[in-house]
Amino acid sequence: MEGNITPNDLWQVVENDRAHVWHHLIQHAPFETADPRIIVEGKGMRVWDQNGKEHLDAVSGGVWTVNVGYGRERIANAVRDQLVKLNYFAGAAGSIPGATFAAMLTEKMPGMTRVYYSNSGSEANEKAYKMVRQIAHKRYGGKKFKILYRERDYHGTTIAAMASGGHHQRNALYGPFPEGFIPVPHCLEYRAHEQDWAKGLSGEDYGIAAANQIEQVILREGADTVGGLILEPITAGGGVIPPPPGYWQRVQEICKQHNVLLILDEVVCGVGRTGTWFGYQNYGVQPDIVTMAKGVASGYAAISCTVTTEAVFEMFKDDSSDPLNYFRDISTFGGCTAGPAAAIENMRIIEDEDLRANTDVMGARLMENLHALTEKHAVIGDVRGVGLFCGAELVSDRATREPVHEAKVQAVVGECMAQGLVIGATNRSFEGYNNTLCLSPGLIATADDIDAVTDGIDSALTKVFS
Ligand SMILES: Cc1ncc(COP(=O)(O)O)c(C=O)c1O
Repeated sequence: MEGNITPNDLWQVVENDRAHVWHHLIQHAPFETADPRIIVEGKGMRVWDQNGKEHLDAVSGGVWTVNVGYGRERIANAVRDQLVKLNYFAGAAGSIPGATFAAMLTEKMPGMTRVYYSNSGSEANEKAYKMVRQIAHKRYGGKKFKILYRERDYHGTTIAAMASGGHHQRNALYGPFPEGFIPVPHCLEYRAHEQDWAKGLSGEDYGIAAANQIEQVILREGADTVGGLILEPITAGGGVIPPPPGYWQRVQEICKQHNVLLILDEVVCGVGRTGTWFGYQNYGVQPDIVTMAKGVASGYAAISCTVTTEAVFEMFKDDSSDPLNYFRDISTFGGCTAGPAAAIENMRIIEDEDLRANTDVMGARLMENLHALTEKHAVIGDVRGVGLFCGAELVSDRATREPVHEAKVQAVVGECMAQGLVIGATNRSFEGYNNTLCLSPGLIATADDIDAVTDGIDSALTKVFS
């Protein structure tokens, strides 16, 4: 570990943290007897904690974010240069990095033309919902206001984002939620036997049936009441669920037929994670609105984008005589220039270092290694993923697919952490189904890194399950 902080200072940092910081997503009682973890430094794929212990990070900052790795001076320098030139101006005006990044981004997204800046994935999704609602009021007498979301998908932490979230345990105790958000079934084929409409179906038959379930909900609610459908291209925190074959094509048809705007939440898949620039580009689908955050600037600055087609954008400017007919929304920090300055450099790094090609090669290696582990560990029931975005679902019985208890899953995560390997798992998302290990190493991963990740999981599984 490098830097100027001495062990003595770090003791004080730990005590300040224990006394004053409220960490995300964690029960704090254990900190009365054990130290909270402080991450002090990062370089490439590795981070160091307050004790100087090195960790190989297989989840890009814990939550699939630091795609280009830690310690990128190019990004830091670009942000620094921009901050001394102009750090901020409200987003009613433009900025040089804002305009530049919007052009670079939409160039990678054929059919999409407009970028609305904000700060987090949740916020980007809220913007999309507000667009759907405003269109409903302006064009459909307020009637086409409902937004469909899918079980097991996650769209963020704010109240409306939770209302559209399929993670029941996450949502528990935070209601009541706003109305107009309606669930459709998940499309995890491995659990098809638990879905009444899917019994006996597999492959494309399952994919088309899962998409048809969306149409069933639209018909039940009334197509004239449904304005939008939000989906993750590949479900992330809900257990890494790539869509089954046939799914996306049918979803697209259904949206077109019922005049429902298709919103794709690329907060995790966006900007290289699956080898394509965006997850949806693996499936030939054409969205109306795309949201993104985490990998846009790899966590070097807070930035999120809500990207739309020109047709969506036009609906907010075609009647300038109506004083309410523009998008009356603001995100104060959407005007921070650090975000797009970091995003420009992040995208250039992915191009200069050909990291999407690396993602394809290393993602294939990761899947191959995980499949090899299934031969040795009967507890791995299913391995899923695209690019450097993989999940391994743990079951106590391969025949019945009974999920292992989440305590066992957390024991595997804890064992990896003890070895100096950071992995993730579905966490307090669904009662009884927090049983998937999640991996999203940086797009810079080498073959040795990938092998170290799967070797670590191998020994953790051996320790916990034998
Ligand atoms: C798919 C997806 N959408 C939205 C979000 C919310 O993003 P944020 O935490 O930046 O608000 C997340 C966060 O994990 C996510 O995984």
